[in-house]
Amino acid sequence: MLMDNFARRINYLRISITDRCNLRCRYCMPDEGISLIPHAEVLRYEEILQVARLFVQLGINKIRLTGGEPLARKGVLDLIRRISRIQEIEDLSLTTNGVLLGEFASDLVRMGIKRINISLDTLNREKFAYITRRDRFPDVYKGIEKALEVGLSPVKLNVVAIKGFNDDEILHFAKLTLEKPLTVRFIEFMPTGGVDLWSRDHLLTADMIRNEIEKMCPLIPVDGEERDGPAARFRLNGAVGELGFISPISRHFCTYCNRLRLTPDGKLRACLFSDVEIDLKSHLRNHCNDEKLKDLLITALRNKPKKHTIDTALFRKCQRTMSTIGG
Ligand code: 5AD
Ligand code: SF4
Repeated sequence: MLMDNFARRINYLRISITDRCNLRCRYCMPDEGISLIPHAEVLRYEEILQVARLFVQLGINKIRLTGGEPLARKGVLDLIRRISRIQEIEDLSLTTNGVLLGEFASDLVRMGIKRINISLDTLNREKFAYITRRDRFPDVYKGIEKALEVGLSPVKLNVVAIKGFNDDEILHFAKLTLEKPLTVRFIEFMPTGGVDLWSRDHLLTADMIRNEIEKMCPLIPVDGEERDGPAARFRLNGAVGELGFISPISRHFCTYCNRLRLTPDGKLRACLFSDVEIDLKSHLRNHCNDEKLKDLLITALRNKPKKHTIDTALFRKCQRTMSTIGG
């Protein structure tokens, strides 16, 4: 079992397999002049598998592939197939922007993915084209329908809540759960590297969103089941889907944090908001042994901060853009 310095059990590895993306969300990436990680610096699938296999032996049993856009990397299905064959993994999932999901959904199921998270911040085509700088809403919508059709379950929609952008769509998103078996999760907008969009004024807190929904309809807590990771879970009366609220800013959930992150260029990151990274890639490429990799993993765990400092005077925005960490 992997334990950090604060007795948190770490069993979840998020692997960002590429920093490339077919969208350009304004809060994540600049439009132009993005410095992409050179191909030679991106971990090869063999290297990702080597890390995954060892970490699973040491206590990781939950893996998520993210990006950038993971479905945009060539050969991703084969990687998924090979990871899903690692016996001890109880949960293998994927976070995608949904653009290519219509095409990929059936194959994902065939390769061993059972559930999926789709990032979608608006249900309006024009607003989608604005926030992502690409007119791909119809593709994403098709992708969502396809995901439900092929039986991925749950299908979660991650909505970054931004005041002045999608506060007028909260009820629309909530109502989706009445008809469709979707889990809609509102995520508080976080300050991340590379772009300068975040400010307190854009923050819609989980409480603000809940109040808005409760004006229409009571929220029934979904309890007796496990927490949905960092999300507080609710249901609307008679709904087939669920609602979730993820509040990294207003109510940080660092106490429950069970995760480590692997960046596309092979750095282990113990916290989204800490730029302390442990370089696995150079050791992998020097053919280090498993003992060495294990030491590096332990070092990363030792460096995992107790909590983030967003909203305190100590806070420094991280250097990386979200597309190179994987959310
Ligand atoms: N705040 C909150 N969520 C973010 N994401 C990207 N940038 C931010 C941010 N600044 C989300 C994406 C996606 C996930 C990978 O991270 O929308 O759902
Ligand atoms: Fe791509 Fe996700 Fe960043 Fe949007 S938030 S640009 S979909 S990586």
